[in-house]
Amino acid sequence: MDVTNPHERNHMRCPIEGSVILITGASAGIGAATARLLASHGATIVLCARRADELAHVRQTMHHAERHLVCVVDVTDAHAVAAMVEQTIATFGRIDAVVCNAGIGVTGPVAELDYGNYLSAMAVNVGGFLHVVSAVNPYFTRQQDGQYIVITSVVGQHALPYTGGYAATKAALERLCEALRIESRGLGITVSVVRPGTVASAFFAHRIGPDREQRRTRSAGMSPQVVARSVVWALRHNQRIVYPRFRDRLLSVVADMFPTWSDAILARTIRWQQKTGDDEASSPAQDT
Ligand SMILES: NC(=O)c1ccc[n+]([C@@H]2O[C@H](COP(=O)([O-])OP(=O)(O)OC[C@H]3O[C@@H](n4cnc5c(N)ncnc54)[C@H](OP(=O)(O)O)[C@@H]3O)[C@@H](O)[C@H]2O)c1
Repeated sequence: MDVTNPHERNHMRCPIEGSVILITGASAGIGAATARLLASHGATIVLCARRADELAHVRQTMHHAERHLVCVVDVTDAHAVAAMVEQTIATFGRIDAVVCNAGIGVTGPVAELDYGNYLSAMAVNVGGFLHVVSAVNPYFTRQQDGQYIVITSVVGQHALPYTGGYAATKAALERLCEALRIESRGLGITVSVVRPGTVASAFFAHRIGPDREQRRTRSAGMSPQVVARSVVWALRHNQRIVYPRFRDRLLSVVADMFPTWSDAILARTIRWQQKTGDDEASSPAQDT
C-alpha cells in the first residue's frame, strides 16, 4: 500500500507523535484525560473549553506543557470556534485531528422536558460539533487529510428513561457523523465515534434540569482514562465505532434483540420521584 496516498487513509495506522490535535471540552473528565494521554504519545494539543483556570491546570499536568495551546472558547459561539481554528493553523501550520468531546446532559421525563433546557444541550452537544466541523473541514479538505473523533454515548443508540433529551442530542450526533463519513469518502477525511457508557466525571453534577431519578443500582462508571485510550485507538486505527467497554456493546446488542424485555428491566430499575414543589428551579442536578 502507498502510505503517502491520503485516500488510503481508511486502511492505515495513523501516527499520533508529531500530530496537532484539537480537543473540545478539555478542561475536565474525558477531554482532560485524552489531552494528557495524547500529549504523552507526542501529540501537540489545542485545549478548548470555557474555564480558563481548569484548562491551565490540565495543560500544566501534560507532557511538554509549554508545547500546547489553551483556547478559552464556548463551542456554542461559531465565531469563537472559527477564530480558534485559525489560531491553531497560524500557530502550528496545520491541524490533523479534532476530538469533539464538549458536552452537557439534560434531565427530565420527556413529557415534562423543559424545551429551553433541551435547546441548551443541543446547542453544546450538536451545535458545538457543527461549528467545529464547519471551521475545520476546509483545512481537512485542502490537506486531503484529517480525522474527526466524536464522543457520543451508548444512549445515542438506546435511550435511558429521564434522560431522553440528552439521548436525542447524542442520536443526532450519531446521524450527523454517519452522513459526514459518507460525504468525506475519497477526501482523506475519516470520522470515528466513541460510545462510552457511564463515566466517573463531573458530568452528572453539571446536567441541566431537575434530578429526581432513582436507580436501584448505579454503576460508579469507568474512569475517563479508559475512554481516552479508546480515543487513541480510534485515532490509530480509523475505526468507525469504538465502545470503550465491551459490556456496553453487549448491552446494546441485547437491547436490539430483546427490546420489550430491555424496556421492562429499565422501567423497573430507573424511576422518577414524585414532584416536590421546588423542582421548577432548574438548578444543576446532583447525581444520586
Ligand atoms: N460522563 C458520562 O457518563 C458520559 C457517558 C457517555 C458520554 N459522555 C460524553 O463525554 C463528553 C465529556 O463528558 P465528561 O464525562 O468528561 O463530562 P465533564 O467532566 O462534565 O466534561 C465536560 C467538558 O465539556 C466542556 N464544555 C461544556 N460545555 C461547553 C461549552 N459550551 N463550550 C466548551 N466546552 C464546554 C466542559 O468544560 P467547561 O465547563 O470548562 O466549558 C468540560 O471540559 C460529553 O460529550 C458527554 O456527553 C459522558
